[in-house]
Amino acid sequence: MESQTTVRIFASPEGVIQFAARTLSEICRSRAEGRISVALSGGSTPALLYEHLANEHRSEIPWGRLELFFGDERTVPPEHSDSNYRLALTTLLSRVAVPALQVHRMHAEEADLEAAALRYEDEIRRFVPPGALQVPSFDLVWLGLGEDGHTASLFPGTAALNEESRIVVPNFVPSVEKHRMTFTFSLINSAQRVQFLVFGGKKAPIVREILGSQEGERGSAPYPAERVSPHHGALEWLLDREAAREIRDPGLLA
Ligand code: 6PG
Repeated sequence: MESQTTVRIFASPEGVIQFAARTLSEICRSRAEGRISVALSGGSTPALLYEHLANEHRSEIPWGRLELFFGDERTVPPEHSDSNYRLALTTLLSRVAVPALQVHRMHAEEADLEAAALRYEDEIRRFVPPGALQVPSFDLVWLGLGEDGHTASLFPGTAALNEESRIVVPNFVPSVEKHRMTFTFSLINSAQRVQFLVFGGKKAPIVREILGSQEGERGSAPYPAERVSPHHGALEWLLDREAAREIRDPGLLA
């Protein structure tokens, strides 16, 4: 079943992150008990969201019920300034009452990246219930979008794009000349809900390529982010006006 794709445009980045935070809050409220599994995005965009969650949702979200994972990680130690974990730790995790054992860091700094990826897969399978095809199904996956159309660490032309059986893999990224560790499309597309958080005019061209221009045409090249299409879940593009300035009127995309 094709997932339902919704494009929501907000006047500012604050609108984007407030909607994303409300989404998490609603998911927690919708289920009276049990754990909620969330995959945090990397890059710089989510810092605003994490700070908003720590400032405005510290008491209202049941942090003790969350199992927090990372959609991708750089091959650096957790204290490194490039670490996605460090970004989440400083802006959110150190400020809310999520138990340390429920924060599942990708150990992408390890020399044996393959072994670390396999362990992370096991950890996900232990804490995230399976959906269709026995692939763990996250309640919520937050993603960013690179200007080249990558998401997580699924970059154009890289091996991980073709991975169909694994759910977490190492991935060499020539454009940054480094390995990364990343969710695969199998795992992302098994989620109940996926939200792209994209803001700023720099992303307008790639947003147009993927979502279509004012005239309706879309780019020709299939960008990695276009392969995010949850089998049974909902996909939402949360854009600010700047990132959406080159696309046609959103509405509800089929
Ligand atoms: C990463 C991210 C990556 C990011 C995009 C957008 O580890 O870099 O997972 O996919 O979301 O590159 O990055 P910005 O938010 O910094 O624009």
